[in-house]
Amino acid sequence: MTPRRLLLNAFVCPSPGHVKPGLWPYDLPGNELADFDDLDLWVRLAATLERGRFDGLFIGDVLGLYAPYRGSWDIYVSDGNRFPMLDSLTLASALATTTTDLGLIFTASVIQDHPYTLARRIATLDHFTGGRVGWNIVTSSTENAHRNYGADGITPHDERYVWAREHVQVVLKLLEGSWDPGAVRRDRAGRVFADPERVHTVDHVGERYAVQGPLIVHPSPQRAPVLFQAGSSPAGTDFAAEFAEGALVLNSLDAAAGTVGVLREKALSAGRKASDVAVFAALTPVLASTSDEARAKRERFDELLNSEALAAEVGGNVGIDLSALEPDDPIDYSNAQGGIGKILAEAAKHPDGVVTKRQYLRAITGDTTLVGTPEEVADVLARWQEAGGDGVNFMNYLIPGTYDDVVDHLVPVLQERGIVQREYAPGTLRDKLFGEGPHLAERHPGSRYRNAPR
Ligand SMILES: Cc1cc2nc3c(=O)[nH]c(=O)nc-3n(C[C@H](O)[C@H](O)[C@H](O)COP(=O)(O)O)c2cc1C
Repeated sequence: MTPRRLLLNAFVCPSPGHVKPGLWPYDLPGNELADFDDLDLWVRLAATLERGRFDGLFIGDVLGLYAPYRGSWDIYVSDGNRFPMLDSLTLASALATTTTDLGLIFTASVIQDHPYTLARRIATLDHFTGGRVGWNIVTSSTENAHRNYGADGITPHDERYVWAREHVQVVLKLLEGSWDPGAVRRDRAGRVFADPERVHTVDHVGERYAVQGPLIVHPSPQRAPVLFQAGSSPAGTDFAAEFAEGALVLNSLDAAAGTVGVLREKALSAGRKASDVAVFAALTPVLASTSDEARAKRERFDELLNSEALAAEVGGNVGIDLSALEPDDPIDYSNAQGGIGKILAEAAKHPDGVVTKRQYLRAITGDTTLVGTPEEVADVLARWQEAGGDGVNFMNYLIPGTYDDVVDHLVPVLQERGIVQREYAPGTLRDKLFGEGPHLAERHPGSRYRNAPR
């Protein structure tokens, strides 16, 4: 079977630092990270991505500071690492007016918005963009985020996914179940905007939410946004297999290929097709015209980046202060309630399940960087596709430099090899990505809420 084309997203955060922290102060070609709060930077980036026929701009988000490092949050604040962090849905809305084909994939945690509010905002943006909205569903893995939204501490890991399940169900009930097909008439002569017989309450009553409906916004081109998710723990992949149309994996490509298998199997068990979950590897490319130059460029970036801030962040995401550990000390993750999928994956590589600080940092930083000439990087991506991968979320050392390099040098090679698209397909983001229509597949649980008996 010929694999479908490789899907390309740019994975960014409107913050001075994200994944490769500490580069914003440096005067490097293509480095405008210090201007993360200038809309013009994102407008230009989006234009570059459309020129390169990228599928989506994937905008990450967090709702609070990561776990303290050396007992405080100072390093995040002084380094500007994911703090400040601008709001992703607001940025996506601004770019709706400057783009025509690019998917605008925002991040929203289930803890931040009531599902009714979120469904309304999604439907509005999907109308305004002609159906180009995607939602990265996250549950917030830091204690500070949960405290910012009224909790006494972090909601335990697996409970967050139970919460996410209900939250997503309510959003989908509202988007899919409030307005039947044909409900909107816009009949000027008859003076009927919509048919009252075809608009319904959804009457959700659950553990956390009670929502009557109907949604106050009529159906947008996609109804449900394209659903993305990035958990890699057992609970995270269960959730992705049930709801996600795109799953993100942050791991070496060999390990990511293993996750593809897990997700495909779980999707089948959830009553979907194995291919219903498109798997995106999160990778940072470093390109140059020779392999040596590319390696030197990467070394230079790595020398400049703030390794303390990086150690703070990777431990902080799990909920552990790594500053207390020597490089070869094992990490005690037994009670961690943050994002644990990655450390569990690393632990699985070692028979005793022991993961040292050094191993964890290496797994987080080294394995997800693609360094080489465009041809060399294209070879690796072709192998990822052969291993069952569907797409890539390109992370960055620099904005816009990393994406300028990809669009100017890597995309033409990938296009030449027929791996990525040369032109956009018509239609909504879901049409463009999967070619099976604008709406959630019949096999997706969200489709159950359509025309539900009342
Ligand atoms: C590539 C990638 C991107 C992510 N983006 C975000 C994000 O923008 N905001 C967020 O709160 N969490 C983000 N996460 C974290 C995940 O949503 C999830 O909380 C984390 O992977 C831990 O889940 P797990 O314990 O199921 O593995 C991201 C994770 C990955 C791998």
